[in-house]
Amino acid sequence: MTDVQETADAEDAPPSGRSEVELPPPCERLPGPKSSVCSRSYFVVVMVFFHVYIINVIALLFYVHYSSGQEDAGGARDADAGGRLLQRPAAAAGSRRPPAKPEFARDVSLTRLEGIRVGHVQKVSLVPDKVHEMRTLSLKPLLFEIPGFLSDDECRVVMRLAQLKGLMESQLMVQEGQEELAKELNLNPEEIFNLLDINQDGQLQLQEILTHSRVREGIWLTPENLREVYAGLKADKDDNGLLSLEEFRLLSSDAFQRFLLQRGVQRSQLVRNSRHTWLYQGKGAHQVLQEIKQRVTRLTRMPPALVDLSEPLQVVRYEEGGHYHAHQDSGPVYPETACSHTRLAANISTPFETSCRYITVLFYLNSVDGGGETAFPVADNRTYEEVCLIQNDVDLLDTRRNCDKSNLRVKPTKGTAVFWYNYLSDGKGWVGEQDEYALHGGCVVTRGTKWIANKWINVDPDYQRQARYQQLVSQLPEDENDEDSALNPDTHSHSIHQDL
Ligand code: OGA
Ligand code: CA
Ligand code: FE2
Repeated sequence: MTDVQETADAEDAPPSGRSEVELPPPCERLPGPKSSVCSRSYFVVVMVFFHVYIINVIALLFYVHYSSGQEDAGGARDADAGGRLLQRPAAAAGSRRPPAKPEFARDVSLTRLEGIRVGHVQKVSLVPDKVHEMRTLSLKPLLFEIPGFLSDDECRVVMRLAQLKGLMESQLMVQEGQEELAKELNLNPEEIFNLLDINQDGQLQLQEILTHSRVREGIWLTPENLREVYAGLKADKDDNGLLSLEEFRLLSSDAFQRFLLQRGVQRSQLVRNSRHTWLYQGKGAHQVLQEIKQRVTRLTRMPPALVDLSEPLQVVRYEEGGHYHAHQDSGPVYPETACSHTRLAANISTPFETSCRYITVLFYLNSVDGGGETAFPVADNRTYEEVCLIQNDVDLLDTRRNCDKSNLRVKPTKGTAVFWYNYLSDGKGWVGEQDEYALHGGCVVTRGTKWIANKWINVDPDYQRQARYQQLVSQLPEDENDEDSALNPDTHSHSIHQDL
């Protein structure tokens, strides 16, 4: 700065060698009109500019005055909400002229922890008088393990509270309504055939059918039981395990369903064989539940308001033989998809609704005698290809059979927490695309029972929708805005809130 100023000063000062040369008056440097006319037109021009300038300044002052008045009103409303909002709308919602869709300034960033490398250990301070160690288990997905996150007492309290409340089957035996969707989509068998025929060889391999849909009527399909269906329905005429278009036409959706159901379904054939319940963690909840929520907030460094408004704690129990096939906890991000937790505030009707769980924190409430690991089949794979998940009849998503082939398995140890991100970052401090590598499941429990709890942190990848949702719930009376009742798909919020 100093250098620049010195140079400027030097230029302003007349060069010493020319100091005695007399400069002509400014007007004379212009050819043409005489000096008197020239100075009058100058005067007029200067006055016009001056007036325009003054008018501009006055207009600007008025604008600033009125717009700050509106912001103050908005700010007061936000403060009433207990500072829970992400950010107030940039185009402030003045009471006289409500804008159609207020935009929220996007200057809040979500912290995303760094994994550094697999095996990296970082110390974290979560509770007084204790330092926890957090180990990076994988980078894709970004996954950490924290031993001793919960004390034995806390694990016991959570299991007891869940028992007191009662656990329900995580999956009902028969689920209907799948064909409805196919009818709605209005596709003919030939179109479906072409969509399924990934390698476009004019035949449907078992793997192509399974890649598209592992689940029919809530039943997990294996290559073997698909062959059984073919045989039962005499669909695969030449019995080569492949379906031609003609053969595929014979395999109507209704016949498929009837065949599966009349064979009888065992719990072990379902996607998920467990029982679960939900525990409210807001004000008035058991101290242990509130403390766990606070510890999760510290661990993940997420805004407390986001954690407060997330789903309640889900407690899951697997009996011996229980399992949960590999799945994503959260849905993909498509423009036509709405998050369950913000859907009502978004005031839109979309054909698809999904859970938007940015982070999963999973707690092991007991050490399991046999099996029951949490498997991440494709963690840290170089690439993710859906078709590669089933090869030579080996389905990596099948946690009853193929957990041993998963890239990563976490052994359930009482009090340990693992947590991972189900979405990537958008590079601007918010939630980006779904992380396909976050695929995971619960391996079959071979001995004893397994208890876990899930704390999901819900964030809408659409920043505006998340902000609007938070603004809406912050306007509710105090005791209504802890945790989202609409989030909870299979319980009625009233029962959760009353029981505990
Ligand atoms: C879940 C889940 C894994 C496990 O409940 O969503 O993935 O190890 N559980 O039980
Ligand atoms: Ca094919
Ligand atoms: Fe899960």
